[in-house]
Amino acid sequence: MTNIETTVTTAATDTTDTTDTTGLGEIDRGGARVSVDDKAMINARADVNQLLPLKYRWAWEKYLAGCSNHWMPTEVGMQADIALWKSPDGLTEDERLMLKRNLGFFATAESLVANNIVLAVYRHITNPECRQYLLRQAFEEAVHTHTFQYICESLGLDEGELFNMYREVPSIADKDAWALRYTRNLENPDFATGTAEADQDFLRDLVAFYVVFEGMWFYTGFAQILSLGRRNKMVGIAEQYQYILRDESIHLNFGIDCINQIKLENPHLWTPEFQQEVRRMLTEACELEVAYARDTMPRGMFGLSAPLCEQYMHFITDRRAQQLGLAPIFGEETNPFPWMSEAMDLKKEKNFFETRVIEYQTGGTLDWD
Ligand SMILES: [Fe+2]
Ligand SMILES: [Fe+2]
Repeated sequence: MTNIETTVTTAATDTTDTTDTTGLGEIDRGGARVSVDDKAMINARADVNQLLPLKYRWAWEKYLAGCSNHWMPTEVGMQADIALWKSPDGLTEDERLMLKRNLGFFATAESLVANNIVLAVYRHITNPECRQYLLRQAFEEAVHTHTFQYICESLGLDEGELFNMYREVPSIADKDAWALRYTRNLENPDFATGTAEADQDFLRDLVAFYVVFEGMWFYTGFAQILSLGRRNKMVGIAEQYQYILRDESIHLNFGIDCINQIKLENPHLWTPEFQQEVRRMLTEACELEVAYARDTMPRGMFGLSAPLCEQYMHFITDRRAQQLGLAPIFGEETNPFPWMSEAMDLKKEKNFFETRVIEYQTGGTLDWD
């Protein structure tokens, strides 16, 4: 921790006793109309109940994009998946293990992410357009959790086994325990932003959940299932994962935009020491993911193996570091799953998603390419 709170003098952190950052305080009947200049990501003076005038168009646009991507898991047919799952030679034992652990990770990961948004992040983000997006994201996380309920029911999986996996499978528990360290701090009712130390705690939570959880750990999971889908296996689940990936890509980019905007408004928080700490967080998260890949794919399968997932995670980690304005950590320039780049937050993101939105809205099926 750096002890620099005494040097904080920026307007964004100049909170007063009368500032209501929740939006639920007494109504200030004599309060002036909102000025865009008073709006800020954290520790804002502007009334958080007044959406307009907008300050962060990027947040509002993500809210609109999320709404136009609306989907429900029950709209995806599961007949082919059920037949394959029940057929004795439909999937190999390795594929079954990978699939179950993948589902087991996501089944509770979506809840952890939702709880972090609702119980930790939301009240500390003091900007109404960002809160508008967070409300949309919270609903999307509920849709994602619904997806795992629907898959569990469709395939007749053991509910307890699937949903308790985050306690029973060490490589999943290790990841979740790592991330929970960062949210536990914030969901303490006594926690308040407004000092450099607390504001850095808040940034750490955003890095742990948006960049690591949703931006790194989900991506191995997407690659595993989309790889099965490319081989025409579990195509219903693969289609659902494509919709989740489309949502998560926006969640990740919203988180990156939030972090970068907070940095811009509060440059005193982004110290060299703090940057080093974020790099350490990304490195640790990558190591945890590599252990998870070994655990889910001890022998590997067609087109997919733990070493390939390790290389992919190095590539993704470097990409996340770059998005935060940090130097690469591994220097991995080759994406071993180039087909993922079409479905990801890379150059083709916009086209990929536009295509899928149109196909979804017209009821068409997705192509595997
Ligand atoms: Fe999600
Ligand atoms: Fe998400």
